[in-house]
Amino acid sequence: MRISRRALLASAAGAILPRSIGAADTADRSRMIVHSPQPEDIEMPLDGFTEWITPVDRFFVRTHTYMPTVKLSEWSLKIDGKVDRAMTITMDDLKRLPRVELVAVLECAGNGRSFYQPRVAGTQWAFGSVGNGRWAGARLRDVLQKAGVQDSAKEILFDGADVPLGKMPDFQRSITRAKALHPDTLLAYEMNGGPLPMEHGFPLRVIAPGWASDSWVKWLQHIEVLDREFDGFWMKSAYRHPTQPVAPGTAVDPAAMVPVTNLNVKSVIASPNDWAKPGIVRVQGAEWSNASPVNKVEVSTDAGKTWRPAKLGGPKTQYGWRLWQLDWRAMQGQYTLMARTTNEAGQTQPLEQAWNPSGYLWNVAQPRTITISNQAPVSDGPAGGPPEQPPAAYKTACFGCHDEHMMEQQRLSRARWDAELNKMIRWGAPLKDEDRESVLNYLSGRFK
Ligand code: HEC
Repeated sequence: MRISRRALLASAAGAILPRSIGAADTADRSRMIVHSPQPEDIEMPLDGFTEWITPVDRFFVRTHTYMPTVKLSEWSLKIDGKVDRAMTITMDDLKRLPRVELVAVLECAGNGRSFYQPRVAGTQWAFGSVGNGRWAGARLRDVLQKAGVQDSAKEILFDGADVPLGKMPDFQRSITRAKALHPDTLLAYEMNGGPLPMEHGFPLRVIAPGWASDSWVKWLQHIEVLDREFDGFWMKSAYRHPTQPVAPGTAVDPAAMVPVTNLNVKSVIASPNDWAKPGIVRVQGAEWSNASPVNKVEVSTDAGKTWRPAKLGGPKTQYGWRLWQLDWRAMQGQYTLMARTTNEAGQTQPLEQAWNPSGYLWNVAQPRTITISNQAPVSDGPAGGPPEQPPAAYKTACFGCHDEHMMEQQRLSRARWDAELNKMIRWGAPLKDEDRESVLNYLSGRFK
């Protein structure tokens, strides 16, 4: 949604505090990893990879800005652009179209970002910005056909009810005509058998199965059919991925990158996590892919020297994940466990991860160190000394839209913190020139 007066006011950052940090705390977040309470970035812990359908209260949440409150009585969906009949439809109109249900993995393009070296800015997801949901709604194709898509149509642009913070660009994303007309691309009003929850885009969200979640626009209220490639920030600068390997740590021109679309084939070991007792140890987790279903997972308990097939469970669906397990006779010692998935198209997980500047699509067969012993290893406890005092300007400049969760999770060089300050100032952070150095010193000294 384009910038409103309310958002402009909120951008007088510092003057107005975030609407309520932790606005979604009506939901039980105690079993989740909170990267930022507002805008809400919430990760599913490893044990979530033992459930076939991820329950709503365990499903990760990724938001670029504050969650809007949408009332169904005031909501409608506008369809315009290169169509024969521009129209506005209601939820009742949508529900009159055939209802389609499918199971599909929803994964954030940045899932695994925290593992990239050198580190890159952004939400520092580990394993769990992914979940397996059951989605139901109307086909996007049926809605577009009602409006009559013209031959010149190239891309379909989506806009939700979320309002940007400060001068941040509005979150708008487009998908190709082919993906939009695919019979499995839906406009969902249900998740896991209930109405779509607010944090997942109530009342309507795009379901682009097999694609990363940046295309699954939430709180959808406007569809525009374009006869060109959309050139908004979230297509042309963000969510782009290099087509060629790049040297770790290099800056890459967005023009040399393409939009993130398909998910990578991937598996995660849910347990054991870091320790188990000697004996039969059940190694288990989940595996998924893009539009090509997964049909195989192999497990190594010796750092990739040898591999054994694991047993697959869970129904096989085109876009959903499958659970897997392997019972392993484990003796005392330290082991490096790995799991590697292959899909029906023959794509498999790499053993080394290629770096990219935004930390997208992490999918290496990730080595995990496990101690097998009768006693749990003693934790070293948190590292680092007492925090130093931040400069006074820091609070005024940086706490208007989000709190320190955003900064705390980053591990960035001074140059990257400098770039981050530029971005936030562009978005409206009121940081005066004379305070810039002290804020940069604090950030690059503390979160490095
Ligand atoms: C005008 C509102 C606003 C102000 C003021 C602001 N930020 Fe942000 N910042 C955001 C938003 C919105 C996001 C989340 C963007 C997303 O998820 O895509 C964000 C995200 C971040 C991130 C995560 C990395 C990224 O780029 O997404 C860091 C780090 C950060 N801000 C640092 C700061 C610092 C340091 C300051 C003070 C100089 C600051 N912010 C002030 C709006 C603001």
